[in-house]
Amino acid sequence: MASLFVLVYPDDRLRIKATPVLQFDETLKQEVLDLFETMYQDHGVGLAATQVNIHKRIFVMDCSDDQSTPICFINPEIVYSEGETQSDEGCLSFPGVYAKVPRASKIRVKYLTDQGEQQEREFENLECMCVQHEIDHLNGITFVDHLSNLKRVRLLKKLQKQQRQTL
Ligand code: NI
Repeated sequence: MASLFVLVYPDDRLRIKATPVLQFDETLKQEVLDLFETMYQDHGVGLAATQVNIHKRIFVMDCSDDQSTPICFINPEIVYSEGETQSDEGCLSFPGVYAKVPRASKIRVKYLTDQGEQQEREFENLECMCVQHEIDHLNGITFVDHLSNLKRVRLLKKLQKQQRQTL
């Protein structure tokens, strides 16, 4: 396993739309393991392949406190959504900044496992928000794209300031 380098805003590669996975082979299994390792190391609850410069429709998620509920999604698709909610979101590609983003409060998702098995599951709360956030990444969309211009500018200024401080 290897921990991968996470692309950070304003890297243009975060804008690339990922393509569907067609081959369920050893390469895919390794990519999934690397995504989990990177996500756990960076203390994220979700990580999309796009964020590590792999432009395939894969993301991993674990919203537990003790790494007990890992789920890997291949070619995910939201087939049903309802309600509206807002909670603070962060992103490993935007270190140190958070914003409230409007999301559906309940979703049903169709996806494949890394073995190519079809799954369908409902998600609510943190997992629901996370799945929507990660599917956005696969479409080249980041959470700041959901903010008003004013809020986005403010958040990106804060991010730049923090990036300067960590140099
Ligand atoms: Ni993110």
